[in-house]
Amino acid sequence: MRRLAVSAFLGVAFLAMAASPAFAAGDAVFKDKNCSSCHYTTGPAQEKSIADQLAKKGPELWYAGSKFKKTWLLAWLQDPKPIRPMKYNSITAKNGGDHPKLSAVDAAGVTDFLMGLTSADVEAGLITPKYKPKAKLIFNKKMPCLGCHKSPDKKGNVSGGLSGPSLVGASKRLNPDWIYAYLSKTTTFKPYRDMPDFASYLSESKMKLLAAYVANFK
Ligand code: HEC
Ligand code: HEC
Repeated sequence: MRRLAVSAFLGVAFLAMAASPAFAAGDAVFKDKNCSSCHYTTGPAQEKSIADQLAKKGPELWYAGSKFKKTWLLAWLQDPKPIRPMKYNSITAKNGGDHPKLSAVDAAGVTDFLMGLTSADVEAGLITPKYKPKAKLIFNKKMPCLGCHKSPDKKGNVSGGLSGPSLVGASKRLNPDWIYAYLSKTTTFKPYRDMPDFASYLSESKMKLLAAYVANFK
C-alpha cells in the first residue's frame, strides 16, 4: 500500500516536472478530467446572447483566480458542496449536489491552474470585509438582494431566496475585490445574467459598503 502511494506520488511529481510550471500540469488535469466539457477557461466573456448563457453546463472559470480564495478552492474541489441551491440555469430543479470530485493531488494541480486565471478588471485592495448596519439595510430592505440570495445574520441564522448562489460563507469563498468588481462592472463577468444591475441605483460608496458587507458573511 505504502509503496503504491509512493510510486503514485513519484509519478505525479515527474509529470509536474515534465510539464512544469504547476499551471501547465493543472491545466492538463483539468482537460483530462473533462472539466472543460462544462467550464470554459479563456476570457474575456464568451457569451454573445442569452442562448449562449443557457447552453452552458457550468459557470465560466476564466477569472477564477480573481474570484475565489485559494484555500476554499483547494478544499471545495475535493469535497464540492452545493453553492447554488438550484440546478445551474434552472429555477425549478434543485441542485443535485453531484459535482465531480478530485483527489488531493489533482485538486492541488487544478487549484494552481485556476488561481492563475485572473482578470485585469478586478482592482486589488479596494474592499475590506466589514459588517455595517447601513449595508445590511441595503442588502435586506432597500435592494432585493435577500430575495435571491441566502445570507447569514450576525448570529449565523440563514435566510434568503434560492435563485442566486448562496452567499453563506462568502468570506471564505470570495475575494472581496471581486465582489465589488462583479457588482459595479455589470457585464464584464456575466454579460447575460439573471441578476439585475444595481450599479445605476447605488453610489460608488454604497456599492463598496455592500461589497464589504457580503465579503464579511461567515
Ligand atoms: C457536468 C458538468 C460539470 C463538470 C464535468 C464539471 N463541473 Fe464544475 N461546476 C458545474 C456546475 C453546474 C457548477 C455549479 C455548482 C454549484 O453551484 O454548486 C460548477 C461549479 C464549479 C466551480 C465553482 C464555480 C463558481 O463560480 O461557483 C468550480 C471551481 C468548478 N466547478 C471546477 C470544476 C472542475 C475542476 C471540474 C473537473 C474536475 C469540474 N468543475 C467539472 C458543472 C460541471
Ligand atoms: C433576481 C435575483 C437576484 C437579485 C435580486 C440579486 N441577485 Fe445576486 N445573483 C443572482 C444570480 C442568479 C447570480 C448568479 C449568476 C448570474 O449573475 O446570473 C447572482 C450572483 C451574485 C454574486 C456572485 C456570487 C457567485 O458566487 O458567483 C454576488 C456577490 C451577488 N449576486 C450579490 C448580490 C447583491 C449584493 C444583490 C443586491 C444588490 C444581489 N446579488 C441581487 C440573482 C440575484
